[in-house]
Amino acid sequence: MIPRHMETAHVPVLLVEAVSYLNCRPDGIYVDATVGSGGHAFKILNDYPAVKLLIAIDWDTDALERARRRLTHFSEKLFLVQDNFVSLRSIAGKLNIQKVDGILLDLGVSSQQLEDPGRGFSFKHQGPLDMRMSNALPITAYDLVNKSREADLKHIFHTYGEERWASRIARTIIARRKKAPVADTVTLSNLVTASIPPRYRSKTIHPATRTFQALRIAVNHELDNLRQVIAEGVDLLAAGGRLCIISFHSLEDRIVKQEFIRLSRGRAHGENAPTAKTPEAPAIRIITRKPLAPQQDELHHNPRARSAKLRVAERL
Ligand SMILES: C[S@@+](CC[C@H](N)C(=O)[O-])C[C@H]1O[C@@H](n2cnc3c(N)ncnc32)[C@H](O)[C@@H]1O
Repeated sequence: MIPRHMETAHVPVLLVEAVSYLNCRPDGIYVDATVGSGGHAFKILNDYPAVKLLIAIDWDTDALERARRRLTHFSEKLFLVQDNFVSLRSIAGKLNIQKVDGILLDLGVSSQQLEDPGRGFSFKHQGPLDMRMSNALPITAYDLVNKSREADLKHIFHTYGEERWASRIARTIIARRKKAPVADTVTLSNLVTASIPPRYRSKTIHPATRTFQALRIAVNHELDNLRQVIAEGVDLLAAGGRLCIISFHSLEDRIVKQEFIRLSRGRAHGENAPTAKTPEAPAIRIITRKPLAPQQDELHHNPRARSAKLRVAERL
């Protein structure tokens, strides 16, 4: 963990839009399933003092500690939980809560996680290849990079990074492993860069961006978690309650878009019996036909927001 005075502050993305789409009402119960440093949670509790309870979840113990410090003023309306957000319903169940009035998900990693060299999320800082959001997760990026078969590495880079040089990167890593393990972020970043012919390297993004994204998604099972939390979240919402999701790359946004469409249609007459995954009647109404993106003004102050998209659905 970086000492507190050296931490980069995390600037919440689409703050005004996401919180206003939650439609907070007096006495309502809300969930911030990715509380991080508490930027969105602070705005909810500050702007809507009549809210009854905010359940704030994060997988990362350091993040939860930051949220606890930031939100001390609201402690009697706040329930902080260190857990994977896929456990949303059981977390609410333990509090004897059957339904909630709104859920916010601000996906991905925070600036503090990215900037902490010890976490290994960024190719910009020398650090161990870890990338776990929770230290309860059994497999690190080091394990994937140094123990996976070539075909599996290629699959990870191709599927989760949409990296067109996936084969070459996997081959380079396997060749290097024969001499010594790939132990740190900068070594991996250099291997990836060397695998991409100079004339094909992007001028706008670092050559290792997609590979690092792919490993992070694989280590944390991010796409499976996202599919699961949408289903769990929709089940937990009371009628009229909203699910607001901020995503940061096309793989996430595609899942949110497709799951929202599926849940807004329900199962057509004559199809197989309804399951929890596809309910018979439409479960939600899509509020944002097109995703919301940050305005120029926000992008000017926070370049990290450039790929953010907000989609909102309402429980029927
Ligand atoms: C972009 S940050 C959220 C920032 C927050 N909205 C704020 O304003 O400070 C995303 C957070 O989600 C957490 N996270 C990611 N996947 C998670 C999961 N499956 N379960 C719980 N927390 C998760 C990360 O640890 C990180 O702290």
